Amino acid sequence: MPSAQVFKQGPETAHYTTSNGAPVSEPYASQRLGPLGPLLLQDFHLIDRERIPERVVHAKGAGAHGYFEVTEDLSDLTDNGLLGTKGKKAKATVRFSTVGGESGSADTARDPRGFAIKIRTEEGNLDWVFNNTPVFFIRDPAKFPHFIHTQKRDPQTHLKDPDMFWDYLGQNPESIHQIMILFSDRGTPDGYHQMHGYSGHTFKWFKKDGSFVYTQVHLRVDGGFKTLNAEQATKLAGENPEYGIESLFNAIESGNYPTWNVFVQTMTPSQAEQFRYNILDLTKVWPHGEFPLRPVGKLVLNENPTNYFAEIEQSAFSPSHLTPYIEASADPVLQSRLFSYPDTHRHRLGTNYQQLPVNAPIVPVSNFQRDGPSTFVSQGSRPNYQSSIVPLKYVGPAGTLEGGVRDYEREAKHETFVGAAFRDLSYVTELDFEQPRALWSKVWNDQQREAYVQNVAGHFKGVKSPEVRARQLSVWAAVDQSLSDRIAKAVGAPTVKPLQVKSASEAVKFRANLGVYTTS
Ligand code: HEM
Repeated sequence: MPSAQVFKQGPETAHYTTSNGAPVSEPYASQRLGPLGPLLLQDFHLIDRERIPERVVHAKGAGAHGYFEVTEDLSDLTDNGLLGTKGKKAKATVRFSTVGGESGSADTARDPRGFAIKIRTEEGNLDWVFNNTPVFFIRDPAKFPHFIHTQKRDPQTHLKDPDMFWDYLGQNPESIHQIMILFSDRGTPDGYHQMHGYSGHTFKWFKKDGSFVYTQVHLRVDGGFKTLNAEQATKLAGENPEYGIESLFNAIESGNYPTWNVFVQTMTPSQAEQFRYNILDLTKVWPHGEFPLRPVGKLVLNENPTNYFAEIEQSAFSPSHLTPYIEASADPVLQSRLFSYPDTHRHRLGTNYQQLPVNAPIVPVSNFQRDGPSTFVSQGSRPNYQSSIVPLKYVGPAGTLEGGVRDYEREAKHETFVGAAFRDLSYVTELDFEQPRALWSKVWNDQQREAYVQNVAGHFKGVKSPEVRARQLSVWAAVDQSLSDRIAKAVGAPTVKPLQVKSASEAVKFRANLGVYTTS
């Protein structure tokens, strides 16, 4: 976190002032022409602007500060300054959120939770913009606006509409893995600070010699993932919609610091070629048996914000805020996110959102982008281009701007697999039902299966269209006929047969024939 001084500005002893700091003698009066006259335009204080827009998604949130510590030697995986150095510690800020609701919505809504972490390293800020589920609804970013709009309000009634939601899902059955998780009790975590976090996407960690591994990061909360059942979550939504914010704040205030153990799953490029699923497919997990969780370090939240707006709402995370020797994979959903977050921050916070205290890196920024709106880090007097007379050199962590910027020598040259592998992300096959089926028939016990059926029924019973109902029931039937029949019975709908899709063996053969992976 930047200096606490920055956040502690505005002591309680301050006078009430206008925004230019001039004292105001009467806080409750506007200036007017005589006791009954019209208002005066000179009273600019009266017409000051105040609010910024809320986030378009993930508007409702909670957050805190703490630290990230690397406790293991991972130098065989990456030359990243933080992750590749056992014992390194960095300050961190975390913002948790629900996704679909407005900023006044209930913390206990059934929704994935955002889990965004800003880690302030000596090589710049590393943002991990994760969720609390290991998979996601889509694997093609073109679907994101459609999907998100189905959870927003109907253009005419201004109401949320179960038909929209399930109509989308029935047409896009690759969502079913996330729907299995979302309608289990994992969809209603007990507060924000008692849940796991996952990168979901595949990233690449690499070394100076160009070698790399594909990675998936997991944060597992100390004390285990705690959930609410549907009844508790609904009750809390009415009685204490800020339950998540409050319980996080109180846990930290009472010294009961939320802590996560951080792990990484790794896959070599040749393992990726042999893997049953496409590693660019965000709807799949990597089985832990084949790709075990390797310990990395821990994340601890031990400090509440002193000003919520400055330290949490103004935070701006992006999966493209990466540090050396960590790279995004070619996952198309991740690729689209690399652009869309900075873009939305420019809209919400302004061009220089990275200069706001909560976002500012602990190292100097020297990027020739200087004269924009509301700039307050002007990068000194050096030339405004890469000069041979005043060359920009890295001067080390938290140094001043003398000398300028680091010239990052990227020795590691490597390629990644591209090409037709993308094509098998675009249609649904039997492969898409294997992991959801494993959850239903192997991972969950009877009680969890019954909770899933009831949680789904509570929402699904609101669907009016028989066609939408039948299509979604056919998706569940493709997971398991008994699952679909139980939901049908719970909502009083006729049973249906499974959706017909390409077989798993055809899908695997199709990909193998493409021979698309170049890894050198
Ligand atoms: C927030 C876009 C998928 C995690 C946001 C925001 C946008 C966005 C525009 C609002 C940012 C702001 O105003 O500050 C997208 C798009 C996606 C996508 C276009 C897919 C095409 C995902 C996935 C994850 C994720 C797969 C996690 C694995 C988050 C989190 C936040 C967020 C944690 C809240 C960050 C905060 O607390 O400020 N997303 N998102 N998103 N997204 Fe996504």
